[in-house]
Amino acid sequence: MRDAASFSQKEINPLQSIEQWEDDVLQRYPEPNQPAKAKEEYRNYNDPVRDTVREFYRLNHQYQSYDFVQEKRADFLRFNRKEMPVWQAMEFLNTLVDDSDPDIELDQLQHLLQTAESIRRDGHPDWFVLTGFIHDMGKVLCLFGEPQWAVVGDTFPVGCKFSDKIVYPEYFAANPDINNEKYNTKYGVYEHGCGMRNVTMSWGHDEYLYQITKDYLPEPALYMIRYHSFYSQHREHAYEHLMDDHDRAMFEWVNKFNPYDLYSKNPVPPNAKELKPYYEDLIAKYLPSTVKL
Ligand SMILES: [Fe+2]
Ligand SMILES: [Fe+2]
Repeated sequence: MRDAASFSQKEINPLQSIEQWEDDVLQRYPEPNQPAKAKEEYRNYNDPVRDTVREFYRLNHQYQSYDFVQEKRADFLRFNRKEMPVWQAMEFLNTLVDDSDPDIELDQLQHLLQTAESIRRDGHPDWFVLTGFIHDMGKVLCLFGEPQWAVVGDTFPVGCKFSDKIVYPEYFAANPDINNEKYNTKYGVYEHGCGMRNVTMSWGHDEYLYQITKDYLPEPALYMIRYHSFYSQHREHAYEHLMDDHDRAMFEWVNKFNPYDLYSKNPVPPNAKELKPYYEDLIAKYLPSTVKL
């Protein structure tokens, strides 16, 4: 596997901002009342941003192999980098500045507050609101120098055949696992209906935050956090054969969460100062006084 130090700046940060990935997901899965772009139109759309996103996926699909994920887990799941209160971790996340246009892009904290506030407005339980608020906290990985394609992007199982329902599946041709007979069959290292808890997902902000919060939040919240970028399952149902009945029940929550993540982008930024006391209370109710990153 390539040493992280050997990646160029362009390979570490192919996107101008990590929001370019989310903007792209939004084009792929527009709001139900908006006309969907034809598949070909989506893929051929001639646009420099699209080329950037394509390059991001090329790197993601090439390097997210089973061994790569195991290495990232062994490193980051030691949680030996920082320890701080959750609100402070969100402010830390907000120091993630990139080349995006500050006039049109909401910052990380604003996206999280908007997601959470629309969940709150719909009268959902408070742990659901809290989940909306923290769901992208794992993006602090970027601040630890991680490549964008190991922080964001659609996630997918590793250790078995990559589904062609994953965006830009052709780029998996460069992934070493595609030639490894342990990993390149339909089930790979897994068994039929083994349950997602036994499946290793590609590495990114979803799995990282799940591991940080797994002892503290109700299970539906943990599913939302862990699988919110797993579009090839929650939108395309490509990995039904690995799921068990419990997963199927829990993915109802993932489906419930997804529209809040994708469609609650309001141009009016929420007032973080005003909302802080409410969210500090929610954090105190469910999470420990500090988290280890
Ligand atoms: Fe996310
Ligand atoms: Fe998000």
